[in-house]
Amino acid sequence: MDNFKEHIDDSINRWESNAAFWDDYMGDKSNQFHRELIRPFTETLLGNVTQHSILDIACGNGNFSRRLAELGAKVLAFDSSQTMIDRAIKRSDHFIKHIEYKVIDATDYNALVNLGVSNFHAAVSNMGLMDIADINPVISALTKLLKPSGSFVFSIVHPCFQTPGMKKYVEQEEVDNQIVARSCIMTYKYLQSESHFGVGIRNQPIATRYFHRSLSALLKLCFEKGFVLDALEEPSFKQNDHPGTFEWTDIPPVIIFRLKKQA
Ligand SMILES: C[S@@+](CC[C@H](N)C(=O)[O-])C[C@H]1O[C@@H](n2cnc3c(N)ncnc32)[C@H](O)[C@@H]1O
Repeated sequence: MDNFKEHIDDSINRWESNAAFWDDYMGDKSNQFHRELIRPFTETLLGNVTQHSILDIACGNGNFSRRLAELGAKVLAFDSSQTMIDRAIKRSDHFIKHIEYKVIDATDYNALVNLGVSNFHAAVSNMGLMDIADINPVISALTKLLKPSGSFVFSIVHPCFQTPGMKKYVEQEEVDNQIVARSCIMTYKYLQSESHFGVGIRNQPIATRYFHRSLSALLKLCFEKGFVLDALEEPSFKQNDHPGTFEWTDIPPVIIFRLKKQA
């Protein structure tokens, strides 16, 4: 798989530049996207976390780390952005005994393995892996960090529908006495891994650098490292609150995987 090593620093620096804006936007409880699409499914896939040691990879401002702590987990959360981690710590006063935050680059295999062999019941990464240039180190390190049968639950933008350069449009058709609107996606590339720019949140200071990987490229790497895929979700919104705009209802904007380390 392409490891995009030449883009590691740029992608990390871009996140550092956007971190304060991102944290202000997400706040303590994060946005609707997270609350409705990511959280409920991720929590279900993680199962019971009470008294479990959980690694939160690319934790951002710690919004899900705090949720895990509320559910009774002991959390080690890391991100490459110092500002994100500073903001996460500021927001986590009530959870100080349950969450430890660190600044770590997920492309640094040795730093990851230093977090402790067989130290974690599970790992999670919400909307993080498509922001990380080289995911070989983190997938490899997880085979060491997780306990036997430990799981890794992660979400990314859906690589089939949010491809580089894809276009979204809303078409209207008169059917009988109704004006019917359909949300459509036009895509022209998928299989080739690619680094591209995009907008994480409207009006963010600078573009995010994303790393597109097809499902087969992504999962091949995970299977080669010894993981098996045992659950998958494609969440979408139940309804569109802004009629006439593009709706992510029957097209899922994200995909969530649960991998298990083979015992
Ligand atoms: C879309 S945000 C998701 C944050 C958080 N997981 C959430 O769901 O709110 C992506 C995060 O990945 C982090 N990130 C990007 N590259 C990274 C790297 N190489 N190592 C660790 N974190 C990284 C960014 O700093 C950012 O906080």
